[in-house]
Amino acid sequence: MPVDDGYFDERVAAGYDESSAEMFDPEVVDPVVDLLVELAGNGRALELGIGTGRIALPLTQRGVPVHGIELSQAMVARLRAKPGGDEVGVTIGDFSTATVDGTFSVAYLVYSTILNLTTQAAQVACFQNVASHLEPGGCFVIEVGVPGLQELPRGNTFRVFHVSENRWGFDEYDVANQGLISHHFRIVDGKVDRLSIPFRYVWPSELDLMARLAGMSLRERWSGWKREPFTSESDKHVSVWEKRP
Ligand SMILES: C[S@@+](CC[C@H](N)C(=O)[O-])C[C@H]1O[C@@H](n2cnc3c(N)ncnc32)[C@H](O)[C@@H]1O
Repeated sequence: MPVDDGYFDERVAAGYDESSAEMFDPEVVDPVVDLLVELAGNGRALELGIGTGRIALPLTQRGVPVHGIELSQAMVARLRAKPGGDEVGVTIGDFSTATVDGTFSVAYLVYSTILNLTTQAAQVACFQNVASHLEPGGCFVIEVGVPGLQELPRGNTFRVFHVSENRWGFDEYDVANQGLISHHFRIVDGKVDRLSIPFRYVWPSELDLMARLAGMSLRERWSGWKREPFTSESDKHVSVWEKRP
């Protein structure tokens, strides 16, 4: 049966760790893992969109049992090939609907991956799916950018986010529908390689409402994993919702 790996197919999976190298830096990973260890307590952790195990593997090494949900078999193959990769359980499926046995003390969705769900209905379903996997008092943690609309002059659609010698990226906004397509271009072997991925950007307050619909309340919101304050200048947030008992 053919497998649909979504946007993180073999071509993307093969270069994922290298192209996201700065996100694998221990200075980036360690604070994420520290916070998740604390929230997991003696329980299990559920990662939505586990990818190649950037967070799941170090979290497992810190003694927290981790289970992942992931659409892309190509990404999971990279996870499996790493030391300890076989110890992490993975369910192949869509994290807004896929179910896993047992309950968890923490679920997490990092690196703006909530935006990969391109409709409000799917994002709402994701919160509901998470709530059904959490123990009462368990937490859902999301790391996601604040929509960059302050940088988009009225009437404009495109915003450049990266320019370097052989790589360019720009976002294409569809403001009326909270839609965003990130276009990535790079030169590979003298040819232009293009990857365009659709997202649905979402406001912190809208996420709070989704949490509420799913029986969860906001416990904390920071601008980073070291509990930096979230302010009007913050360009991302780390939010923690708690499942009401
Ligand atoms: C940006 S990567 C992040 C991977 C990993 N969490 C990390 O921090 O490195 C997003 C991952 O989420 C997966 N993904 C995107 N949408 C998904 C969905 N609806 N259900 C399951 N996995 C999904 C992709 O296949 C990809 O592996």
